[in-house]
Amino acid sequence: MNKTRPEWTSHLSFMLASIGGAVGLGNIWRFPYIMGKNGGAVFLVLYLIIIAFICAIPLCLELAMGKIYKKDPVSVYEAISPKLKIFGFASILTAILIPCFYFVVGGWILNYIWLFLTNNIPSDFSVYFSALNSNPYVPCLLTLLFLIVTAIFPYRGINSGIEKANNIMMPLFAFMLVALAIYAVTLPNAKEGLEFMFNPNFEKFTADMVLCALGQALFTLSIGMGAMMTYGSYLKPETNIKKSAYTLIFFDTLIAILAGVVIFPIVFSNGIEPTAGATLVFISLPQIFVNMPFAIPVAVIFFLLLLFAAITSGISLLETSVCCLVDHYKIKRKKAVVIISAITALFAVPSALSFGLLADFKIFDKTFFDFLDYITSNFLLPFGTLLICLIGGWYSRNIAKEAFGTDLFGKVLDFLLRFVVPVVFALVIYTGLN
Ligand code: TRP
Repeated sequence: MNKTRPEWTSHLSFMLASIGGAVGLGNIWRFPYIMGKNGGAVFLVLYLIIIAFICAIPLCLELAMGKIYKKDPVSVYEAISPKLKIFGFASILTAILIPCFYFVVGGWILNYIWLFLTNNIPSDFSVYFSALNSNPYVPCLLTLLFLIVTAIFPYRGINSGIEKANNIMMPLFAFMLVALAIYAVTLPNAKEGLEFMFNPNFEKFTADMVLCALGQALFTLSIGMGAMMTYGSYLKPETNIKKSAYTLIFFDTLIAILAGVVIFPIVFSNGIEPTAGATLVFISLPQIFVNMPFAIPVAVIFFLLLLFAAITSGISLLETSVCCLVDHYKIKRKKAVVIISAITALFAVPSALSFGLLADFKIFDKTFFDFLDYITSNFLLPFGTLLICLIGGWYSRNIAKEAFGTDLFGKVLDFLLRFVVPVVFALVIYTGLN
């Protein structure tokens, strides 16, 4: 074994880093809306079952694969069987493609923090946001700025970069989230917002809703790409995988729900229709903020919250491919970060221009940004997840043993892994491609 390979200094550091990697834009701008639109509490119960009994399984396996082999995804797959090496490269491809759209959003967040900090507030955010994106340079520069801000941490290494960033940003994130939630629920009409999110509606129970919950769970838990494998590869041998995975799931879900508790009371107390994604965060919410009490601090805290979520997730995305260059190709970490950042920058530029200059450049009828989002969420992640389940369930059983332990619950998970979960993800891929 490689003696100089870094390890997390404590279990808490690992938990903060993996929660930081999992909690991202997916939790804040997608989950609350999906839950509200798909039947509120009914969706929540379904989602909890899906993450606890389906998505927890590949999550445990990924962490176990990293922990056992102590290597990057390409080397892990190669160690399991040289024939599988190609799938390691598919992981790295995913790890390069996701940042290319994710970091564009990071750039917008930086821009909005600057707007509010300098009190430079536009009168109409809808007009402002489309003007920002039709500029040929600004979105690219913002994306590159976000890339640099994020890349600094893997550049500095596991312990003094990634660990430190998460140790500082995640507690601050939690503090700001709770503060905003308290502020939001004390607004007039907050109840309406909470009702939108939580009210159970059994009529909305459809197959689509199940697929939606599965897709969301994979993305939010960062499963299927090797990010968790990479973080797992820095684990100490005594770590209990199952316990860590469920703790991670608990906090990821709690934070997603709290994000909704912040967003919907604010939206409803201003009589605005709930939306999701870029429209929610960069148009609807800022427009509301400016008319609210404590507008500037609330807006700055909200965008800082998003920034921390995006940076800590971005770190886990970059680290996956950096780790591959370091472990598999024996390239020095600093050089590896520069190479990966350069490749990311190359593909992130056309993605950043997808809302303006390159809006008419379409792949399968989608802008480059949307195409990257679509192909990773609908194909690459479910495919990577299916592969991990087949390896753990049938090909390399020592991984499942490490992942689940030998208690009764572990046995239940192992049964699900072999006979249920692969079918589920095969169906996800099938429907996603149709
Ligand atoms: N989970 C993050 C979010 O919810 C995004 C993310 C980070 C991710 N690393 C990943 C998604 C790896 C898939 C794979 O925003």
